[in-house]
Amino acid sequence: MACRKVLVIVLIFFLQSLPLLVSVEAISTASLPLTNTTEAKVRCIESERNGLLRVELSLTDPSDHLASWIGKECCIWKGVSCDVQTGNFIRLDLKDTSGNCYQKKMGYLISDISTCLGGKISPALLDLKHLEYLDLGEMTSKDLPLPLSWVLLKNYNILTSPIHLSLYLDLSYVNLSSATHWLQSFNKLPSLVTLSLQNCDLRYIPYSFPNWNMTSLSYLYLSRNNFVNSVLPKWLSNATTLETLDIAINNIEGPISNVEWGKLCDLQDLYLTQNKLNGDISRLVEGLSSCSNTTLEFLGLAGNRLTGQFPNSLGHLKNLRMISISFNQISGTIPTSIEQLSRLEILDFGQNQLKGALPETIFNLTELTQLFLATNNWEGNLSQNDFARLHQLKFLAISCGERFSVNLSSEWILPFSLTYFEIRKCALGSKLPTWLKTQKQLRIIILSNGSISDPIPPWLWTMCSQLQFLDLSDNEIGGNLPSEGVVVDLSSNSFHGLLPLWPNVTHLNLANNLFAGSIPINIGHVMTKLQVIDLSGNTFTGSIPFSITRVKQLMRLDLSDNHLSGKIPDWWADLQQLHVIDLSENNLSGGIPPSLCSPPSLFWLRLSRNNVFGELPKSLSNCKSLLTLDIGENKISGIIPEWFGESLLSLQKLSMTDNMIGGHIPPQLCQIFGLQILDLSHNNLTEGNKDDIVNLIDLSFNNLHDEIPNEITGLSALMTLNLSWNQLSGRIPEDIGSMKQLETLDLSSNHLFGSIPLSMT
Ligand SMILES: *[C@@H]1O[C@H](CO)[C@@H](O)[C@H](O)[C@H]1NC(C)=O
Ligand SMILES: *[C@@H]1O[C@H](CO)[C@@H](O)[C@H](O)[C@H]1NC(C)=O
Ligand SMILES: *[C@@H]1O[C@H](CO)[C@@H](O)[C@H](O)[C@H]1NC(C)=O
Ligand SMILES: *[C@@H]1O[C@H](CO)[C@@H](O)[C@H](O)[C@H]1NC(C)=O
Ligand SMILES: *[C@@H]1O[C@H](CO)[C@@H](O)[C@H](O)[C@H]1NC(C)=O
Ligand SMILES: *[C@@H]1O[C@H](CO)[C@@H](O)[C@H](O)[C@H]1NC(C)=O
Ligand SMILES: *[C@@H]1O[C@H](CO)[C@@H](O)[C@H](O)[C@H]1NC(C)=O
Ligand SMILES: *[C@@H]1O[C@H](CO)[C@@H](O)[C@H](O)[C@H]1NC(C)=O
Ligand SMILES: *[C@@H]1O[C@H](CO)[C@@H](O)[C@H](O)[C@H]1NC(C)=O
Ligand SMILES: *[C@@H]1O[C@H](CO)[C@@H](O)[C@H](O)[C@H]1NC(C)=O
Ligand SMILES: *[C@@H]1O[C@H](CO)[C@@H](O)[C@H](O)[C@H]1NC(C)=O
Ligand SMILES: *[C@@H]1O[C@H](CO)[C@@H](O)[C@H](O)[C@H]1NC(C)=O
Repeated sequence: MACRKVLVIVLIFFLQSLPLLVSVEAISTASLPLTNTTEAKVRCIESERNGLLRVELSLTDPSDHLASWIGKECCIWKGVSCDVQTGNFIRLDLKDTSGNCYQKKMGYLISDISTCLGGKISPALLDLKHLEYLDLGEMTSKDLPLPLSWVLLKNYNILTSPIHLSLYLDLSYVNLSSATHWLQSFNKLPSLVTLSLQNCDLRYIPYSFPNWNMTSLSYLYLSRNNFVNSVLPKWLSNATTLETLDIAINNIEGPISNVEWGKLCDLQDLYLTQNKLNGDISRLVEGLSSCSNTTLEFLGLAGNRLTGQFPNSLGHLKNLRMISISFNQISGTIPTSIEQLSRLEILDFGQNQLKGALPETIFNLTELTQLFLATNNWEGNLSQNDFARLHQLKFLAISCGERFSVNLSSEWILPFSLTYFEIRKCALGSKLPTWLKTQKQLRIIILSNGSISDPIPPWLWTMCSQLQFLDLSDNEIGGNLPSEGVVVDLSSNSFHGLLPLWPNVTHLNLANNLFAGSIPINIGHVMTKLQVIDLSGNTFTGSIPFSITRVKQLMRLDLSDNHLSGKIPDWWADLQQLHVIDLSENNLSGGIPPSLCSPPSLFWLRLSRNNVFGELPKSLSNCKSLLTLDIGENKISGIIPEWFGESLLSLQKLSMTDNMIGGHIPPQLCQIFGLQILDLSHNNLTEGNKDDIVNLIDLSFNNLHDEIPNEITGLSALMTLNLSWNQLSGRIPEDIGSMKQLETLDLSSNHLFGSIPLSMT
């Protein structure tokens, strides 16, 4: 599952980078950077140069981005452009094109050291009266003064001057979290063509806005903000000049029909990806397709809660190049009118409730490069012949179901060269399809639950250097993984020499197969780029290889449900990126090692069902980000120390069941406000006068939401369960009656509905 998530993000990220390219090209200002060689006399106006130097003074510049800001000719300074005729300073672009700051914001950069420009923006900028283009890039400094950005907008005479017809304003990454009237402020700039406020931590977006003034606005980017309790704003219906609207990756709720889409007939790019929008998709499609001359090319709706069916008018959106609706609840069939979308390059319909036969016409959309159809309720049978015309295809994702099968002959000669191939739940025969080996561009293989039982064929090892993502989970593949220095004879085909592991793979998921033997001792030496290792649900033996410490980017290590033995290693300090460690259901022994909590973002830690012994080490208090801690079914002794509840404050789920922990439950445990599951049963705890079982869970007056987890009914010894005054919704779990000891149950003041489960009687 986690693998799939990562992929989707990659995809969405890719899609989102498209409009940015478009907009950069669309910007045309009358400025040209002057070069030192062509310009004999100094153009820069001295007062403006002094103003710029004052701006520079208040900036912090750890990696010398502004090294060129010296000398008299300010017009050739980095990021500065002057008017060719007058020499006036008109454009300031402090974007960091090296990408370092950007990566930092995306959360990928390891080091905490920022190379971004920071500091303050000096009021001196307000004196630079001819400025018409301002891009503050990724300035992220905590002390970047918000009011000044505001002053900048409010007082900048030049920005409000109607002379400047095309104003480009990019304040992305500037923290505008306390701005509530931001729309009013920008509304004073009728010449604004591009407004980019991405990743600004904006919290508020008004629902209606009576005096829309930005009649030139073509490009509006609001992605990656933090709009809380906000719905899709109605005023967008008045923004009729928009060509690009990007509100992706926010928390925007409410019906998609809040906007009268039929008024936005200039739209080319519409990105509403990754929000919480609901309502009927047909309202959107019918609106957009009612434009007499539709220009829409990119439609991104993935990752919302949209329902309804595609109307036949989908076929009117003749210019569509991308339609992405994955991860919604869209039902019905694909209208045959889809054949009219002859420019379509990306069709992303995965993870919905679409049904019926795939129209044959889909396979006549010969421009398709990406086709995502997995996880729907399709019917019918596909064969390799259906794909014969899709010569451009690079990404293909498909999954079978009860009434939908895909029969790909092992002799298939693919008419395309894939980069990404995902196929789930399709009976593929016992072998990995041999035609995969002809795919020289293939980087990502997800071939899950396909009843494959033969060992990994030699050619998959020889494809090693090109592969970046390999998921063969939920098959019946047996055999060993090769170890350094071992020549493995894979009988059938003749492959001689060392079998290399896959050096460029970042995600390796071989979960739930029949792999045996030891985990290759050199895995970390060869597969240095790994971010995810999931070998769970196999029969691996031996110890956990030390070489894993070489995989510095490792985020997830899941070795659960194997036969691993030896001590739990104590080298976790080397793996600072780890988020998930799951070593449960093995035969590991020893104490909980001191370094286990060194990775600062660790949120999931399971060691349950091993032979771990000893006391809870003080070092566990470093696990500050932990949401789930499961050390149940071991031989842990000692007591629950007081620091435990004082340090692990993020915990939502805590299980120490079936150990030998004694003493009483420290009251500090109640400081973990978010705790939802607490299982201390089967220990030697002396809480009150009860024997060995926790008997009270009091989580009242919290902010628990969603449904009451069914697991809670497994706490059969619970005598008091108090979940009152929360935001719980849904029904009372059916099995609640199995909590035989329950004497007090308080679920009042929630949003529960339905009847009292029969089991309670
Ligand atoms: C401009 O060119 C002169 C001579 O070619 C050189 O000495 C000077 O450093 C250059 N100035 C800048 C700012 O690059
Ligand atoms: C923006 O600033 C506010 C207030 O200073 C702060 O709480 C918030 O965390 C900042 N947002 C980001 C994304 O840094
Ligand atoms: C619209 O723009 C004009 C010109 O900049 C400005 O004077 C006016 O206040 C703006 N109207 C609103 C409602 O912001
Ligand atoms: C759209 O603009 C009109 C006219 O300016 C205004 O009356 C109306 O309130 C605006 N709609 C919304 C939803 O803000
Ligand atoms: C439709 O739009 C295209 C491009 O946007 C334009 O060239 C063409 O003139 C428009 N046609 C009509 C009938 O408006
Ligand atoms: C697909 O296109 C081919 C060639 O243009 C045509 O012969 C065939 O009828 C089309 N199939 C469908 C289902 O439209
Ligand atoms: C799909 O193939 C199966 C046999 O493989 C067959 O029983 C079924 O009728 C076929 N379904 C359709 C819609 O052709
Ligand atoms: C799959 O297609 C082949 C012909 O390409 C056929 O022989 C075989 O019976 C089909 N299998 C199923 C399960 O329909
Ligand atoms: C594998 O697919 C079958 C249906 O083909 C399904 O019943 C089963 O749950 C799947 N297994 C996993 C682990 O997804
Ligand atoms: C894979 O890794 C090797 C080094 O092990 C490198 O030379 C090669 O360029 C990489 N290939 C790809 C496709 O990234
Ligand atoms: C578990 O490991 C211990 C040694 O630590 C060994 O004696 C025992 O046989 C192992 N159990 C299994 C089921 O492998
Ligand atoms: C349980 O705790 C009591 C003291 O409260 C102690 O005497 C006993 O040995 C403990 N039992 C185990 C199995 O640790």
